[in-house]
Amino acid sequence: MSTTTTFVTRSADPHIAKLLEVVLPDLQAVEERIQQEISSPVRTIWSLGGHVLSSGGKRLRPALVCLSAYATGLPVDRNRLIPLAAAAELMHTATLIHDDVVDNTTTRRGRPTASALFGNGVTVLTGDYLLAKAMNLLAEDGDIAIIRTISQIAIEISEGEVLQMIHTSDASISEQTYFDIIRKKTAVFIQGCCRAGALVAGAPEPVVDALSRYGYHIGMAFQIADDLLDYIGNPARMGKPVGNDLREGKFTLPLIIALRESTPTDRERLLQMIEAPVKDGEIQQVVEIIRRYDGFAQTQAIAAHHARQAMEALGSLPPSTIRESLTALCDYIVEREV
Ligand code: IPE
Ligand code: IPE
Ligand code: MG
Ligand code: MG
Repeated sequence: MSTTTTFVTRSADPHIAKLLEVVLPDLQAVEERIQQEISSPVRTIWSLGGHVLSSGGKRLRPALVCLSAYATGLPVDRNRLIPLAAAAELMHTATLIHDDVVDNTTTRRGRPTASALFGNGVTVLTGDYLLAKAMNLLAEDGDIAIIRTISQIAIEISEGEVLQMIHTSDASISEQTYFDIIRKKTAVFIQGCCRAGALVAGAPEPVVDALSRYGYHIGMAFQIADDLLDYIGNPARMGKPVGNDLREGKFTLPLIIALRESTPTDRERLLQMIEAPVKDGEIQQVVEIIRRYDGFAQTQAIAAHHARQAMEALGSLPPSTIRESLTALCDYIVEREV
């Protein structure tokens, strides 16, 4: 069984695997390259990295690097594309590994997190290793515009994660701050993957800009949908329990909307319940209040609006099956269950 077959069958979500089938040979090559990159002589790095990388994951970021490159309609040098797409997934893995340490998370993709198995020290350092490996792949490629794009992602993710942390359990967090955080921690990454794909194909500026805009909007939609799923998703399918964000003191859009819309009495009840530590029994009550004030529906509408803007950004690209896949991704992102 090839590495990619393994990832596709293990992927928590058959829908995304199906959608990304158009770039399956590329994703397979990306998996092989990743295996090569994590095979450090320091075996702990290899087993920790392997533990996370073999646990599924949608491979959305490397897929977007490839899809964006092909969507330009220009010839693409796969010898450059594959390592760059691999760099995107390595960097994503590093951020997840670090994120699970700072969030104290014990389960991801239905498995114990690296930090739960290996402890925080080795986990943080292996995250650094994967990030350095990603940067090394970019350096080998040598395209300064791509290096700038991807290093900017690393800068903004760090800022986004710190910004989020300083707003932990901040019940007065504004919608603007929330959007700022998710732009930095998620949308800039997905945008950068699309931009890098367009750049590796040597696309003219308007095409690079269109794909960047597409990436930004699906990135925003993706994180907003993720925050929604955290409240109302199916825990068995997601591989993590619901209400994690609330337990972590992460006040996301559905709650921010409910805090804004609720009557003084309900707002007071909400404030009492979200005061740390949030008890399991309180999560369901918070969900009920959010629902009463349309917090989920409004959140879904904002995600859908971004998805529509992403679709519009594709308008200037040549029609192709790849463009169709990018369009289908817009729908998937707001309807996904994982
Ligand atoms: C998880 O990203 C972190 C967020 C930005 C919500 P993904 O949902 O792409 O994670 P995997 O790789 O598929 O597990
Ligand atoms: C995931 O963020 C990591 C980044 C986006 C950098 P979250 O903490 O919001 O998401 P999960 O729930 O752990 O995937
Ligand atoms: Mg987290
Ligand atoms: Mg986090």
